[in-house]
Amino acid sequence: MSVTARPFGATREGTPVTLFRLENPSGAYVQVLDYGAILQAVAVPDREGRLRDVCLGFDTPAEYQEKHEGYLGALVGRCANRIRGARFQLGGRPHALAANQPPNHLHGGNRGFDQYLWDHRIEGDSLVLTRLSPAGEEGYPGALQTQVRYTFGPDNALLLEFQAVSDADTVVNLTSHAYWNLNGHGAGDVGGHTLSIDAIAFTELGEDNCPTGTLVSVVGTPFDLRSPRALSDGWNADHPQIRQGGGYDHNWALRGSGLREAAVLHAPESGITLALSTTQPGLQVYTANFLPESTGKGGAVYGRRRGVALEAQGFPNAVNQPEFPSTVLKAGETYHQEILFAFTHD
Ligand code: BGC
Repeated sequence: MSVTARPFGATREGTPVTLFRLENPSGAYVQVLDYGAILQAVAVPDREGRLRDVCLGFDTPAEYQEKHEGYLGALVGRCANRIRGARFQLGGRPHALAANQPPNHLHGGNRGFDQYLWDHRIEGDSLVLTRLSPAGEEGYPGALQTQVRYTFGPDNALLLEFQAVSDADTVVNLTSHAYWNLNGHGAGDVGGHTLSIDAIAFTELGEDNCPTGTLVSVVGTPFDLRSPRALSDGWNADHPQIRQGGGYDHNWALRGSGLREAAVLHAPESGITLALSTTQPGLQVYTANFLPESTGKGGAVYGRRRGVALEAQGFPNAVNQPEFPSTVLKAGETYHQEILFAFTHD
């Protein structure tokens, strides 16, 4: 195993950015930036043993800055997904957040964790990125010390371990917003990929794209992914919730607890499979329904449905829905969550 660092240009403001490559003895590797703790590349073998980079990304920091609204590979925080009306109550006090997707708050606000430079250290086979989010940032109470540890194993499994501590009660929901295309990051739409999710219910979307609070059974709907289903089958389905999201843009309520396998994505063409395990209660699946057409790494064409984000996280708007698993972090307590992306091929 090796972790190496090299310069990755500079932000528009002139701050140098570093790219870290975590490579295993087989030559498979992942690349992570200290800017935004962004997952910039994941190169794993297909069924011919050829490496394919299956993670969408850009070649320069400026592109990440200009196109940040796609959240490519981003480490999303302080609170992933939507908070209705960009407000919540905590300890009897109202808190107003940045309404960056009016009227809601999305993915941490105008300048989320994906748009800051993180501190880094290399610890053995791992890259550890840390960031202190000051009290009041984007409207959140409490200074939050955040850490994410990236570890890439000899078995082509990438582990993300999230940790955070706040000096006041706050809301925390960290996730990775990597988009996957298991045929290669520039290989076109992902309609032929199959996806299964270990869930019997999903959170219904209201007209404001926040959950209504109702958990709907997946049985008899395009959301039944207990057996693998082609993504195009889902996004072409005639179902009011698919119309509301423009495809899949929903949170599945995962079964079980602790680190357990939650979803399996497979590309029949390349033979590559991604099995996602997580400690989180929810999995937001976003089939890039609104990803604008743009040029990605090496001139690749990205856009609508040319990748799928599998965002293991707390339920959207949980802070305003007492019946959802809590995303509140009490002062002095430690937030800990894990996501494991394990790559194999047939
Ligand atoms: C959300 C989408 C949003 C996208 C932005 C996803 O996580 O679920 O609704 O448009 O992020 O890139």
